[in-house]
Amino acid sequence: MTIRVFSTPRAAAHALAAHIAHAVAANPRLVLGLPSGRTPIPLYRELTALCRSRRIDFSRTTTFNLDEFLGVAARDPGSYRAFMQRHLFDRVNLPPGRVNFLNGTVRNAAGECDRYERAIARAGGIDLQILGLGLNGHIGFNEPAATLRARTHRTRLSLATRRANKSLFGNRLDAVPREALSMGMATILRARQIVLLVTGREKARSVERMIAGPLTPKLPASFLQLHDRVEVWLDRGAASRLKRR
Ligand code: GLP
Repeated sequence: MTIRVFSTPRAAAHALAAHIAHAVAANPRLVLGLPSGRTPIPLYRELTALCRSRRIDFSRTTTFNLDEFLGVAARDPGSYRAFMQRHLFDRVNLPPGRVNFLNGTVRNAAGECDRYERAIARAGGIDLQILGLGLNGHIGFNEPAATLRARTHRTRLSLATRRANKSLFGNRLDAVPREALSMGMATILRARQIVLLVTGREKARSVERMIAGPLTPKLPASFLQLHDRVEVWLDRGAASRLKRR
């Protein structure tokens, strides 16, 4: 794993937006995997600024988001789809037809997961996957558990994760869905390049275990150690438990 430490979350976001702009310039048909959550908000702000000043052109880029709440419609303000519209998709020149999302309201969740896997394959696979890290070490909605799932699947959310997502649902824990759809570990690990962006001291312990600890389903992000093109981009807070290198 390549580790980069930035002085602030903003500096990390700025550099990652430049990294994405470079990748899109080199390959305008880039297939980009995207996370939601608080961490990427400064990144999406930077990408919006780059797009407005025509330093990035998303017109031929394709995106796949990692996950969505089960039972929540795209137009519901609490959905990850609505989050992405607010923070990125409504602000940049990404054609709506190139945005791919899991649909949380389908009757047949297993069929929806298969459809997503096929769509990723049809797009030629994910070139660059951006990830965030859950407080408990989850990626996407691959929660700590006795076993992990390889492919896109339906999953139960832990209480900690539902708490972390409360703000999307009017700060009411009882309004946060108990289940979600998420890319699986193999879906994520098949991406050609992965950048995991983590900011904040409260995640320093998970970062330390992810990088220096054993592979364990109790910390799903530890499986990123299996990938040979993973970069971990941290601010000082998230890096605070790592030994100086
Ligand atoms: C959420 C999402 C993840 C996200 C993570 C971290 O529950 N499912 O995709 O990366 O948790 O969120 P945050 O950036 O808000 O800490």
